[in-house]
Amino acid sequence: MTLYGRSFLTLLDYTPDEIRHLLDLAKRLKREKHLRIGHRHLMGRNIVLLFEKTSTRTRCAFEVAGRDLGMGVTFLDPVSSQMGKKESIEDTARVLGRMYDGIEYRGFSQNTVELLAKYSGVPVWNGLTDQFHPTQMLADLLTIEEQLGRLAGVRLTFMGDARNNVANSLMVACAKMGMHFTACAPEALFPAEDLVRAAREIAENTGGSVTLTSDVADGTRGADVLYTDIWVSMGEPDSVWKERIELLQPYQVNAAAFENAADCAIFMHCLPSYHDLGTEVGREIHEKFGLTEMEVTNEVFESKRSVVFDEAENRLHTIKAVMLATLSRQ
Ligand code: CP
Ligand code: NVA
Repeated sequence: MTLYGRSFLTLLDYTPDEIRHLLDLAKRLKREKHLRIGHRHLMGRNIVLLFEKTSTRTRCAFEVAGRDLGMGVTFLDPVSSQMGKKESIEDTARVLGRMYDGIEYRGFSQNTVELLAKYSGVPVWNGLTDQFHPTQMLADLLTIEEQLGRLAGVRLTFMGDARNNVANSLMVACAKMGMHFTACAPEALFPAEDLVRAAREIAENTGGSVTLTSDVADGTRGADVLYTDIWVSMGEPDSVWKERIELLQPYQVNAAAFENAADCAIFMHCLPSYHDLGTEVGREIHEKFGLTEMEVTNEVFESKRSVVFDEAENRLHTIKAVMLATLSRQ
């Protein structure tokens, strides 16, 4: 198996065996990192990280993983580069492809990351677009396998804005790995029909399934994983908060949802999360709407069921695996 030279834009482009290869490579790299066994397999290479949206985990994971592999790392944001404003994506891609061995992009349009891949001639990695968040998925799959000992047959329920980037990607990731994905959300926030159709076609071949329900009791019953994400994603206007809160309050992950789930069910969240008043946005929402916690209660977030920080750490090991696999023959 080699993924050498490939871009990583959406999990739709990757077979279950290729995803398995990346997860196994990530496990090896995680073990080596914990044992302080160096793995500077990409010494002398250089990567550039393009961020049009903010980030903590993804940026840090790419930076640390890049350095652990021995690479030089450049960070560019919209303020300090010409991209988009004074130079087209196509031209930017051709310039960066002459200087760098790989490009990470986080931003708005999936089309942008695809153009970067088309014109740069080097592997491009999607660090989140409005549509997909594929590197998050590898960390999530690794975490589920570590916690539950398996992927195939696992029942994962996503509660919240089920047409956002994380939910879209989870639906595809679960389908690819033979898992049972449920989007538990108001109908207005169900994932797009064409993506549901594509995920169901994949699931037919893997033994997985894709279910959409707006009934919380049905959606959470027997779930092995309850997963949520913030109710308003980056790039959406503040004006949607009111409507989103009204729509999504019944879909909060709380103790009642866990009572209905499997006995050993775990809680997952890509983070960042509004589970208390420790954030500026959280406090603003509290002042305007009176909520002290949003997509998940603080009780669940801080409980033993919560594996969110294992999940966050796994961003590092899985992103490292993607870069190593696409920039070498490992
Ligand atoms: N989960 C995730 O992508 O986090 P950041 O926005 O901090 O990168
Ligand atoms: N749906 C969230 C994910 C953040 C990692 C967003 O796009 O803001």
